[in-house]
Amino acid sequence: MNGSSPAGAGAGDEVARAVAILRRGGLVAFPTETVYGLGADASNPTAVRRIFAAKGRPTDHPLIVHLAGVEQLDEWAESIPAFVWQLARRFWPGPLTLILRRRPRVPDEVTGGLDTVGLRVPRHPLALELLRTFAGGLAAPSANRFGRVSPTCAEHVRAELGDRVDLILDGGPCAVGVESTILDVSGAAPAILRPGGVTREQLEEVLGDALVSPASDAPRAPGRLASHYAPQARVELVRRGDMLTRARTAAELGLRVALLVAGSRFVVPAGERWGERIEWVELPEDLAARARELYRALRSIDDARCDLALIELPDEAGLGAAVADRLRKAAGQG
Ligand code: TXA
Ligand code: MG
Repeated sequence: MNGSSPAGAGAGDEVARAVAILRRGGLVAFPTETVYGLGADASNPTAVRRIFAAKGRPTDHPLIVHLAGVEQLDEWAESIPAFVWQLARRFWPGPLTLILRRRPRVPDEVTGGLDTVGLRVPRHPLALELLRTFAGGLAAPSANRFGRVSPTCAEHVRAELGDRVDLILDGGPCAVGVESTILDVSGAAPAILRPGGVTREQLEEVLGDALVSPASDAPRAPGRLASHYAPQARVELVRRGDMLTRARTAAELGLRVALLVAGSRFVVPAGERWGERIEWVELPEDLAARARELYRALRSIDDARCDLALIELPDEAGLGAAVADRLRKAAGQG
């Protein structure tokens, strides 16, 4: 059985219930500013194993540990360079995950056996209240089944996990909408493993230096595997100018085609029968709004029972890097 709470009403009681569930090794889905997380007590290996079972996720894929504040950083990580403290103070609470050398107390179940751990302080008030009341670390991946689109509202979590989670805290829709930026600061030079809510430009401003690309022997983050974040429909990345021609070819073959476009749709000539097999999914032009709406749009492709989705990539500056990364993965080109 799982319950949920509307944002605001009785949030304190819900948090107390959530903490009781977490203390006895249960699973609680909670909102963050990026996507909803599926949380368990990061110090309890049995509880952490339940996360993998609920998601159907391979157990060697490491989890992020969520903390209540910067001051907890060295309870979980060691050998923390000064610039990392600076990054944490600048971007936490917020959508930045730092990969650091782990302390021995971090269970292997959390790190998948790696000698590093991912840490972040989320910016959502309900997540922070939960973390402060729990007074420990919460291991939490995105609250979706393995390989599926991350949930950005409580209803998505319910659709993904149903009774596999003991409680869903409802904090409304997520403000950022794509996952945190993962920055590996455990090696010689910091490297972005996954673009996300904090942009490369923002990080470079603090680091005062250009960021290197990840080394080829860096641990593979599963979020970096092709076919992650994928709807069931086939996804093709298409330039705006080629979209209608491609849509027409597919629709004339009898396929139902979703067209994901930023800004307004374009005109299908009147009287064209194939136009009836087109499903328009409009995304906002503004990049922050597009990131926020992205996963809902990907879900709507399947809801509309489309066979094929044609999508245009944004420019890769700023938040565009995270949006383009997720779209490439949806297209199996991670
Ligand atoms: O925004 C987010 O980061 C969300 C919210 C819930 O916080 N969480 C999230 O978790 O996206 P998940 O498990 O879906 O993705 C975490 C990524 C995975 O790709 C994992 O491989 C990587 O972080 N990761 C975790 N620990 C790592 C480590 N020690 N070294 C390298 N990658 C790591
Ligand atoms: Mg995920």
